[in-house]
Amino acid sequence: MTKAIAHPNIALIKYWGKQDKPGNLPATPNLSITLDELVTTTEIEDGKEDTFIIGGEQRDDEKVGAFLATVRKSFDVPPLVINTENNFPTGAGLASSASGFAALMVAIDHHCELGLNREFISEWARQGSASAARSLYGGFVCLVPPQWRAQPAAPANFWPLKVVIAITSEDKKKVNSTEGMRRTAATSPFYSAWVRGAGDDYADANDAVAAKEFDALATVAELNCLKMHSIMLTSVPTLAYWNAATTNCMDTVRELRAAGTPAFFTIDAGPQVKVVCQPADVETVQSAMAATPGVLRTVTTGLGEGARIVE
Ligand code: DP6
Repeated sequence: MTKAIAHPNIALIKYWGKQDKPGNLPATPNLSITLDELVTTTEIEDGKEDTFIIGGEQRDDEKVGAFLATVRKSFDVPPLVINTENNFPTGAGLASSASGFAALMVAIDHHCELGLNREFISEWARQGSASAARSLYGGFVCLVPPQWRAQPAAPANFWPLKVVIAITSEDKKKVNSTEGMRRTAATSPFYSAWVRGAGDDYADANDAVAAKEFDALATVAELNCLKMHSIMLTSVPTLAYWNAATTNCMDTVRELRAAGTPAFFTIDAGPQVKVVCQPADVETVQSAMAATPGVLRTVTTGLGEGARIVE
């Protein structure tokens, strides 16, 4: 038996759209932070046939099945019993596929003695879910051309930011990321502008991280998130991942800033709002988010480490 853990990551510069070639390659460079409180734990052992258990329930997961088939084209991987648990809601815009495929690929590499280095594990995890490539590393992580293997941009202790996650719904997302991206690229009139602008957003965010300039990072990350949601909303049919509490949370963050507390929001393919702030402000931000109408609960986290074997 092999046991691996991985943490989800959230993108500050988003990936939304793929290149038109094999390998599940993002269309644009992206940058994330790896979280520490949220965790996926995955155990694998040899079995008679592939079995996938998540949160104690056996499931047929198309993405996991396709991923194992891809890995088996290059490596000798026996039938596996995969038992995975998240300490957070699955499929609700909290990056469960990122930590899921990162933990799974780290576990397969170890269990099947593939001997891959971290960069190649990241490349294989990317084929399961491109955001998973980034969960191989801790702290600030980029996924950029030409290799499209994740690379560490700065370790967690370089700039120990905090993230307050406002949970506004525990429901599963209506349209998964892969289908959502296909729809956006095919139908949003603003998709080409999104792709054109991504390089500048990425460069500005990278500079802000290197210089630890919080306000500069806040400006570019929040705008990049809103650009992504603009192309989601203008897809046909629309991809509306927000609920009323999501927009209430965005207002709260703007009010915090107006009152002198630096913070910014980012939102993925789901209604949860992740608010990034500096350690000194975490209590102010947490109580403001918890008091926002429609917020069910909050989770506060720092930056964590990359995926790893624990047993
Ligand atoms: C909005 O990595 O889940 O979270 O590669 O199709 O599995 P696939 O997509 P996925 O998409 C993540 C989208 C996002 C933004 C991001 O994490 O960069």
